[in-house]
Amino acid sequence: MAEELPETPETAEEEPIKQRKNGLYPGVSDELAENMKSGWADTELHDLRPIAQTAETAARRAALSARFPGERLVIPAGNLKTRSNDTEYAFRSSVEYAYLTGNQTEDGVLVLEPVTAPDGTSGHRATIYLLPRSNRENGEFWLSGQGELWVGRRHSLTEAEKLYGIPASDVRELAQKLTEATGPVRVVRGYDAGIEAALHDKVTAERDEELRVFLSEMRVVKDAFEIGELQKAVDSTVRGFEDVVKVLDKAEATSERYIEGTFFLRARVEGNDVGYGSICASGPHACTLHWVRNDGPVRSGDLLLLDAGVETHTYYTADVTRTLPVNGAYSEIQKKIYDAVYEAQEAGIAAVKPGAKYRDFHDAAQRVLAEKLVEWGLVEGPVERVLELGLQRRWTLHGTGHMLGMDVHDCAAARTETYVDGTLEPGMVLTVEPGLYFQADDLSVPEEYRGIGVRIEDDILVTEDGNRNLSAGLPRRSDEVETWMASLKG
Ligand code: GLY
Ligand code: MN
Ligand code: MN
Repeated sequence: MAEELPETPETAEEEPIKQRKNGLYPGVSDELAENMKSGWADTELHDLRPIAQTAETAARRAALSARFPGERLVIPAGNLKTRSNDTEYAFRSSVEYAYLTGNQTEDGVLVLEPVTAPDGTSGHRATIYLLPRSNRENGEFWLSGQGELWVGRRHSLTEAEKLYGIPASDVRELAQKLTEATGPVRVVRGYDAGIEAALHDKVTAERDEELRVFLSEMRVVKDAFEIGELQKAVDSTVRGFEDVVKVLDKAEATSERYIEGTFFLRARVEGNDVGYGSICASGPHACTLHWVRNDGPVRSGDLLLLDAGVETHTYYTADVTRTLPVNGAYSEIQKKIYDAVYEAQEAGIAAVKPGAKYRDFHDAAQRVLAEKLVEWGLVEGPVERVLELGLQRRWTLHGTGHMLGMDVHDCAAARTETYVDGTLEPGMVLTVEPGLYFQADDLSVPEEYRGIGVRIEDDILVTEDGNRNLSAGLPRRSDEVETWMASLKG
């Protein structure tokens, strides 16, 4: 990557050219500055069509408006974060902003201004605040770090308005407007320090938290567009898993990183990114729940626990796990443990239906796992005692699933009564992902169990009459997994 500064040797060290002083750019001759102002074509795009989800984003803004009448609502996308020196992390906007606008641009802010209609009903007028196209007259397009010559073309405000169906304004004027504004206001915190600073004497943590919670709870039930995106995410993920199986020999010759890189290629080509750091855990690493270092060996005879998900361009992620025998065939003990987890997952999936309690699928899966542990003599029964005391958790370790959407652990700010203590409804999407993990140093189990970790994870949509497994494109039963692997390696 080139450095960002078109500098001349005599000024480079003391004065970076991007630091504009008194309207002058050191190191830029008047002639060059003048020259750079002109000779550029008008590239305004006139035939833009709105993004696919404008009806859904408008409906979401309407629901938000109805919940907070008479209040100004400020929802920032967030800013770039420095990785080191002058490099930044890849930007991902706040999910709240993306959910309500369909836009994902850094520094963007959605503001809902309270308005009263002539008939007295109150509502809101939405404005999306964005950085406009770079000015060429003052040189910012090529001299500023945010200039389009460096970071790429942005949409003009007129283009943004057409794309997102929301009037657009210059974000550089927003902080001042918010400082001067009167009346009740709430902001989604944690994304844009500048916007929060402009509002700091007008907002309270408690009221802002209510806004955050509402926006999280809005996302618990997915609309048709979101379900379509989640299916796309899963379909790409299925292809990513197939990619991995095809290159297991290369992973054996290198490391788990080969698996991470292979899946990442699929995610970047078909989607936006991976939805979370891929867990490419071979052998005993499968027992480390968040194994994302992925720097270990991949060995024939071991299991590979691959937990990975493609995130679509609209930010919806899959979250799928398969535990695969590296050499294509489960050993006896691996199969015994795998089949127990499969049975637990089947029980969990069967418990996902409208009207069921959210906790039911977890309880159903845990019961099966506890039964197996008792049957194998690893813990003393009866099963009821084991469940009551949670003794199975030494080996089951984590909850059996979570909501899935724009965040892998979606709707995390939702209140307990609407999520964990809630009831399943059509349109919810959740993972069912039981596991059994026998740590390599767990002396409480026979040696043959040690270092084996198995998780099976699928993405399940609650339907009107039960559920649909969005990730059914990947086999789960042990014999079907072996047949599938053989067909891909063949
Ligand atoms: N991949 C994270 C999880 O399964 O929850
Ligand atoms: Mn998960
Ligand atoms: Mn997962």
